[in-house]
Amino acid sequence: MTKIIAGNWKMNHGPEETKSFMKALRGQLEGASDRILIFPPAISLAAAREALGDSPILLGAQNVYYEQKGAFTGEISIPMLKELSIGFCLVGHSERRHIFGEDSALLNKKVKALLEEGVIPVFCIGEQLADREAQHTFAVLEEQLKTGLAGLPPLNKDNIVLAYEPVWAIGTGKTATPEDAEETMGQIRRILKTLSLPMDLPILYGGSVKPENAGALLGKSHVDGLLIGNASLAPESFAAMIKWRKE
Ligand code: PGA
Repeated sequence: MTKIIAGNWKMNHGPEETKSFMKALRGQLEGASDRILIFPPAISLAAAREALGDSPILLGAQNVYYEQKGAFTGEISIPMLKELSIGFCLVGHSERRHIFGEDSALLNKKVKALLEEGVIPVFCIGEQLADREAQHTFAVLEEQLKTGLAGLPPLNKDNIVLAYEPVWAIGTGKTATPEDAEETMGQIRRILKTLSLPMDLPILYGGSVKPENAGALLGKSHVDGLLIGNASLAPESFAAMIKWRKE
């Protein structure tokens, strides 16, 4: 089955670095059969689009505001993303939730607006270490899905992607084992069922993914792809994960 290999650059790579990255990556795609998706910072999206030319690499934004336009200093809108043919947007990344205080009501509005405009939200969920230790993982994920995905138009595997990123694994070097990831992602599918949502929505795993563990994670049946931070920043390391089938 085709997987999604996504790179979340966070606050890294301005327009010039973005151009050299894309040039290097384009030369390494031979034989890649999965969907490759990159989330550059907003200011580098135009450079990325230009550098990609006719390459099949997909682009996503890391953040967006749900209003169409107006007095929202510092924000970018969905029509602006569409002008650059940006097909995806992260929503609810743990850094947006925890550093920038984005709450479920705001995230829900963003998901809704993206769906209405035909840009695919990549909706991130994940428990913190204290939640896991208190065995509250299931409840936390259930709450995030219930509130984040409430009152939306019908969801299907082509209009939304989910990303499970345990907060304790993001940027810490601690990855969930492939077995842990598989188990929790199976639980997420059961939560989807209880919420009367399709169980086959694509779910990415994220949190300290690197070339050494990408293949084992992608080998799990509930893992439809990866959302990679640190290890996506160098073209060689990202390319190694794109080539996981050959490892
Ligand atoms: P990481 O980040 O791979 O550096 O842990 C993943 C993410 O935050 O999406």
